[in-house]
Parts: sequence; C-alpha cells; structure tokens
Amino acid sequence: MCGIVGYIGCRDAFPILIKGLYHLEYRGYDSAGVALANGGEMNIYKTKGRVSELEAFCKNRDVSGTAGIAHTRWATHGEPNNINAHPHYSESKNIALIHNGIIENYVVIKDRLIQNGCHFQSDTDTEVLAQLIEYIKELNNIDLCAAVQLALGQVIGAYAIAVMEKGRPDRLIAARKSSPLALGVGEDEFFIASDASPIIEYTNKVIYLEDEEIAVVYRHEAPKIVTIGNIEKTREIIQLEISLSQLEKGGYPHFMLKEIFDQPRTLRDCMRGRIDADCKQVVLSGIRDHKERFCNAKRIIILACGTSWHAGLIGEYLLEEFCRIPVEVEYSSEFRYRNPVMYPDDVVIAISQSGETADTLAAIDLARRAGAFVYGICNVVGSSIARNTHSGSYTHVGPEIGVASTKAFTAQLMTLAMMSLCIAREKKTISEERFLRLLEELNRIPDKVERILRADESIKNLAGIFTYAHNFIYLGRGYNYPIAMEGALKLKEISYIHAEGYPAAEMKHGPIALIDSEMPVVAIATDNEMYEKVISNIQEVKARNGRIIAIVSENDAAMKDIADYVIEIPATEDCFDPLLTVIPLQLLSYHIAVTKRRDVDRPRNLAKSVTVE
Ligand code: F6R
Repeated sequence: MCGIVGYIGCRDAFPILIKGLYHLEYRGYDSAGVALANGGEMNIYKTKGRVSELEAFCKNRDVSGTAGIAHTRWATHGEPNNINAHPHYSESKNIALIHNGIIENYVVIKDRLIQNGCHFQSDTDTEVLAQLIEYIKELNNIDLCAAVQLALGQVIGAYAIAVMEKGRPDRLIAARKSSPLALGVGEDEFFIASDASPIIEYTNKVIYLEDEEIAVVYRHEAPKIVTIGNIEKTREIIQLEISLSQLEKGGYPHFMLKEIFDQPRTLRDCMRGRIDADCKQVVLSGIRDHKERFCNAKRIIILACGTSWHAGLIGEYLLEEFCRIPVEVEYSSEFRYRNPVMYPDDVVIAISQSGETADTLAAIDLARRAGAFVYGICNVVGSSIARNTHSGSYTHVGPEIGVASTKAFTAQLMTLAMMSLCIAREKKTISEERFLRLLEELNRIPDKVERILRADESIKNLAGIFTYAHNFIYLGRGYNYPIAMEGALKLKEISYIHAEGYPAAEMKHGPIALIDSEMPVVAIATDNEMYEKVISNIQEVKARNGRIIAIVSENDAAMKDIADYVIEIPATEDCFDPLLTVIPLQLLSYHIAVTKRRDVDRPRNLAKSVTVE
C-alpha cells in the first residue's frame, strides 16, 4: 500500500529514487511522484500511472539535486490522478511530504485548517498532514522536526512519511507508525524506504524505526532518532542478508514465474538448519524455546489474511491431526473487531508474508492484550509482525515481489508442517516411526516440486484452452480443500476471471447449479483416502457436462477416462499434498493470466503489502 523512498547524499538523487520506486512498485502503482531539493529550489513532478510514466514525464525536466523523496501510490483517499499523487505540498509550497498509511482523523483536521485559511488541492488524507505540519511550524515559529513531532501527536492512524523543506537540501525527515520504514546507512549518504529493496544496491546496513519514532537525516552525520514525545533513541544498525539478484527477474518474464520456479530452492532454504541431515530431528528454535506454551496450549488460534489464511487452514489440519490441539483459523480483519473469547493459555499463530498486514497486526495486538502468547510465521525479516510477536519462525524464502503469493505460501506450509511435527514429538502425540517417515517425506518435497515444474509447458497449453472462461470452480477435500480456495484466489487476482473454491462435497448444496458445458472445474483428486469420494463429486460435474481438469497422482489411469484433462503429480503423504497440489494451480493461473495479457506481477487494484485495514 504505497511505497516511499528518499535519498540524501552526494550522488544525483533522481536515478536512485526512480530505481527505488521500480523496486517498490509492487506496493502500489496507480500514480507516482518525486520531489527534488536543488539548492534553494524544490521541484516536484507527479503523474497518474506507473513509475515508467513518471520517468517519461520527467524527461527534459530539471531533475538535478542530491536529495529527494519519491512515492508510488495505491489509492485510499481520492481517485488516482495527477493531483492526488504524492508528494503533497503545504500551503506555501515550502514543505513536501510523501506518505504510506491512512490518517483516520483527517476530516476533522482538514476542517480546522480550512477555517484557519488553508487551501487544499487534493482529496487525500496526506495533504492534510503536509498542511498541518506547516501550520504548526508557522504558528509556533519552530523548526520542522518539532513541527512534525507536534503534528504526528495529533493524528490518528498509520503512517510512514518522508518530509522535505524548500531551502534545506541538507536534511530529510522520516517517521513511522504502523507502516514499515527502513533507513539505509551508507558512506555520507542515507536512504529512506518502505522496505530494503531500494537500499540494498548501495548499502546492506539498515536501521528499522519503531512506532512513533522520527529520524532526522543529514548528509554527513548519523541520523538523529527521537520519538514524537522528543525522547532521544539509539537504534541498532542491522546487516541485511538479501542480495540484489534476489530482487531481479533472473531471465524470467515475470517475478511470479521466477518465484514459482524458485520453490524447490526456497523450500530447501526453509528446512535448512531445521531438519538434520539424517532426517531424524526437526528443530525450530522458536518452538524449542517455548515448547511448554505449545504443549500446554488448550487451543491454538491462527490469524492471517488472504493466501496466508489458506496456509492457516492447512495448519489447522496439521496441528489437530498430529498435536491433538483444537485449532481455530480466523481472518485477522474479523477477529480484531468481534470481541473474541481469549484465554491466557491460548497460543496464537499469526501468519504473514510481508509481516506488515494492518489487520493481522491489530489482531495480534488484541491477542497480546488478552494475555495470549503470540507466535509469528513471517517472511520479511525485521517486519512489524516479526517484532510484535513473542517468538516465531521465518520462512526464509527471500523477497517475494510478484503480488500473487507463491513461494511464501509453500514455505508457510513447510513451516507449519515442521512446527506440527516438532510439537507432536514433544507431546508424544505421534509415534516415533510415523514421525521419522513423515520427516523423510518432507525432505523429499523439494525434489517432487521440481518434477511438477517440468509439466510447465503442458500446463501452458492447457491454459490456452481455457482463456475463454468467465468462471472457474475449484474442488478439493481434506487437506486439499484450502488448496481449492488458494487455486481460485490465484486465478482471480491475476487473470480477473471469477473463481470459487469449495470443499468438493459441498458442491451439491448449491454451486452445482452453476455447472454447464462452459464451466471449467479444477478437481484435486490425488491418491488418498478421499479419492473415491472426490471421484463421485467429479462424476456429478461430468453428468452436467462440466469440463474437468483433474490434478491426480502419477499413474492414475482411471481418471484419464473421466476427466477432460489430467495433470499428474508425484504421490506423497496426505498431509503434505498441499505442498504439491498447489504448484500446477499456480502455473495454470499464471499462464491463463499471461494469455489474457494481464499484468501478472502488478494486477489491478492490488498491492503486495496491505498496510491499511
Ligand atoms: C494473494 C496474496 C494476499 C496476501 C494477503 C496477506 O496472493 O498475496 O492474499 O496473502 O494480503 O498478506 P501477508 O501474508 O503479507 O500478511
């Protein structure tokens, strides 16, 4: 939800800012803008559309300056147009500000400022903050940092901001609350960004600001960090472990395809150091350090949104089957507002790729206040969720850039599988023989994913057949029911084809009315104890002329006579099936979307990191 980037140093800021925006475009891409400090001048350029349009717009314009701020927007308040694009000016145009987040009480503040003579150009909540800062600065005759402190003391909501003042090319100010912000620390140069991707090319040293902290960043000295209440803070410099190559497409046409093909490696990375070479032990340090909490838990509540919520559903099946602990899986957005009953011995698991999802953060807050122990499963190291949980496990897949989550999802499943086996062994709710068999099988999963990926070309051909469809149904049972929902979500978000995922047996309770000869039905019918039942559900679709694409285990001869198209995958344990069955569904969605000429990595209306509720 919006990406912000800032630079102050000795080089030209513009190319660094534009490159940074390209890295952050996954966070929003409906308009973009830049402000550059050039001596006593401040030039602002902004346009509706992608970063490439901003770059083209700036051609032949004065983009000189060694300090600047830039923004790529995902609209919340005000339609995406040139005026609502950031940066926003203050009344005198002396202050420029970019913002990621939402100022919830902006209407009240705006009314007050209008009464005091301010004139607004845009419909955004952000402009209110730019105007408020200047109003306070002038009224009290104080310095910009003090005005930012006072202004932020008045706003309710979430923000990561960067502020620049005309005539002060030597200084940028940044602040955050409930929206991410990293400060890159170079040699006589500093960077501000929503995540580390715009920074890593120049330095691997970063500082993550905490909520309600403000950084005053000069060119030649260490940033000064103070709270809104003016308490000085010292923040540790962290060494980043990501590399630039992880942020590039590596020869693939899209990040999404690269990330799908990355999965054998990312799954191995997720297991590395956790499952020993002989496959006799699985150790997750977060579980080891808190094993009593997990073993004594009367209940586990899993909180997540979107694809991570689907991972949570599979987590429920795993934890209940192996650890015999009742599990509830909740949408964070519902949980946070429904006054849930919580007990101090509840264990909460929050799952989030970005670690910044606003609803999940708020749900975690609620659970913590109720006394629960909160465990995070996050991908982004140092993210807000990682920091606001008592303990957790990283998924270690590196940056996921395609907006549709793929490799982070399978690593969430892998983490949940390892956690379940760890806890089950500790609780003795699994026999040693089964534990060892499952661990060995888990270790074979990356090779099996690799084998499935070899079917890419035939899945691409299949995709070509179904681009006509306006609707899709996905069916699965047991462990594959959440995968049916995940397959449907992947398809709709990147191809804009309407799709629904159902537990196969539920179809006859309503959705079967949708079946006709135009309706493609993707049925997951792998070789497990649900197989015969899913076959019956498929026969019901066939009897109504639906077109069936079946995901089956290798050598399933019977299905070839029933389904219109068959995709084979290697056999595995039922409980690990989702790690394999999701792969052809990711590829199918990808190829359908590409055939329909969709912007796969940046689908319309979506953003990678949902930092607003
Ligand atoms: C879909 C997708 C989203 C996210 C959801 C939660 O492909 O990526 O549904 O899963 O927005 O995001 P995180 O996992 O970052 O909390």
